[in-house]
Amino acid sequence: MRTIKTFVLLVALVLNGGLLVQAQSVENIYQLAAKHTQTMAALLLDSSRIPVTIKKDGSVQWANLYDWRSGFFAGNMWFLYEYTKDPRWLQEARRWTAALEPLQYFTEHHDLGFMVYCSYGAGYRLTGDEAYKKILVDAARSLCTRFSEKTGTIKSWNTFKSWKDGTVYYYPVIIDNMMNLELLFFASKVTGDPYFRQVAITHANTTLQNHFRNDYSSYHVICYDSATGKVLARETAQGYAHESAWSRGQAWALYGYAVMYRETRDEKYLQQARGIARYLMQHPRLPNDKVPYWDYDAGAPGFEPVTKNAAMFNGQEQPRDASAAAAIASALLELKQYVPKKEAKKMTAFAGDILRSLSGPNYLAQPGTNANFLLKHSVGSLAHGGEIDVPLIYADYYFLEALLRWKAIK
Ligand code: GLY
Repeated sequence: MRTIKTFVLLVALVLNGGLLVQAQSVENIYQLAAKHTQTMAALLLDSSRIPVTIKKDGSVQWANLYDWRSGFFAGNMWFLYEYTKDPRWLQEARRWTAALEPLQYFTEHHDLGFMVYCSYGAGYRLTGDEAYKKILVDAARSLCTRFSEKTGTIKSWNTFKSWKDGTVYYYPVIIDNMMNLELLFFASKVTGDPYFRQVAITHANTTLQNHFRNDYSSYHVICYDSATGKVLARETAQGYAHESAWSRGQAWALYGYAVMYRETRDEKYLQQARGIARYLMQHPRLPNDKVPYWDYDAGAPGFEPVTKNAAMFNGQEQPRDASAAAAIASALLELKQYVPKKEAKKMTAFAGDILRSLSGPNYLAQPGTNANFLLKHSVGSLAHGGEIDVPLIYADYYFLEALLRWKAIK
């Protein structure tokens, strides 16, 4: 009798999108996320102060709208609205999204895709609001001002100072930039203008050529000569070593090429994403819970730390990056739709393992703790000595996205 009851419960959990772990179903986690987000929004009051992480004293660190992380808090609210259909979340999501309106004309760095597509993009997808559409297309146009035919890329930052010798480069492109391309595909679809899409494809092709090593791991920063398009340097800004695999960068690469395949159906992007997935899923230094260290090669022999800070955990256990894990899980749950069955099963199982870990007590924060962020244990930039083993708003965002994807496939 007991066996039958357990079986029925397991089936019910699976049908419900349950994670089959410590009774943490998607429903439970979304309820928890709603509590955290509600408390956070009430404490902040003002939607121009956007929560991104915590300070050393444990209070919320907020940023303004021009920070690359500015779209995620609104994005989390859109996920809450999508999941609950509660009009109060719609109202909150609209309020926090509205605060980002000036971004449509922002051209000072490349992160508009993150900032605008995670907020306005979600808003448009869920409401069809025409005003949101206009802002998204304006933002895509602003992002394209950073594109150069000469380099075949969108410039990420205006300058980058090398950890090696202080050289300042004027055309750095980081792997994270792959995450900004979805906005451009959207803009081409709604305007009928192929230009945005062409920029995205050119950027992805150049990145494919220059950012990757033979094992499918990627460099963080490629510095181009803006006059000739030549690669001047391959380095890292946030990773352990220039030749290492910074974990979040690998997550962005995986996610970015999965999106590229979805939008173009070009086989080469699928092969790239599959190669990256294999690299990540089979990595010899991946911990058992499948939440990677902040850099896959942190502290490993043969890798030269770029800064003193980068080496600060050598000889000890390196900090984990839950944000990388969450983005990898979400990306795999997309990619698994495009690959043969056996491979898809492996990807789903791997993503499920990550979500199970993140849903457990080691990572998931109880109400009233963790400054009201959902996940613990991420790393912003250890090489700079900042945001080490902290909550990060984008870890919560990709976790919530992955949970919705998980629920949809179950
Ligand atoms: N785009 C910056 C980061 O992933 O930290």
